[in-house]
Amino acid sequence: MEFFLDTAELDEIVKYKDFLDGVTTNPSTMSKHKPSEHSSLIKEICKVISGPVSVEVISEKYEDMVKEGQRISKISDNVCVKLPCTLDGLRACKTLSVKGIPTNLTLCFSSAQALLAAKCGATYVSPFMGRLDDNGHDGVLLVEEIVEIFDVQGCETKVLAASVRNLQHVIQSALVGASAVTMPPQILKQCFQHHLTTQGLERFAEDSQKNK
Ligand code: E4P
Repeated sequence: MEFFLDTAELDEIVKYKDFLDGVTTNPSTMSKHKPSEHSSLIKEICKVISGPVSVEVISEKYEDMVKEGQRISKISDNVCVKLPCTLDGLRACKTLSVKGIPTNLTLCFSSAQALLAAKCGATYVSPFMGRLDDNGHDGVLLVEEIVEIFDVQGCETKVLAASVRNLQHVIQSALVGASAVTMPPQILKQCFQHHLTTQGLERFAEDSQKNK
């Protein structure tokens, strides 16, 4: 499974680059940086990470999304244009896909949206597990359903499990066969941290001092 970091913070990306297959940003994470610095920040991220770096359009209308997507894709070869699962977003996905521009269909909350994203040639579709859970649904179940549908239907679009709130989201999305997962730095940290590892190291350090 591909591991993506869900952040626009370059220092975090550099810190974890050895584990990372890609990066996802969104207008909220980008808003922590000045708009005039967005292009150079994306360029820097794309230098550190050779895999897909998702950058979301802020336009809402089809024509504007296509223009913005083309502009974003020129920042670097590994930029993946993020578009919402709306009528305009799906249409823009189709247009950009035909031009060979990689896309990530975001804000996916149903299998029907995911199927349409696949029909429009999306490279990735991002079901939002955490936001579904927050609204009384089961986010992992949606990821599982989309993986199964894509398998049965032979869709090439990759399922990118997103809106990760905890370690279980990472493990469960791997178990149900998601191609990729994107998580914030604090969850990636939990992937390698374990209190028994820390405790074990402390004991080994203490023991190694004995009889010195
Ligand atoms: C994914 O690409 C999104 O940027 C992200 O996972 C959204 O997560 P949130 O629901 O925690 O904002």
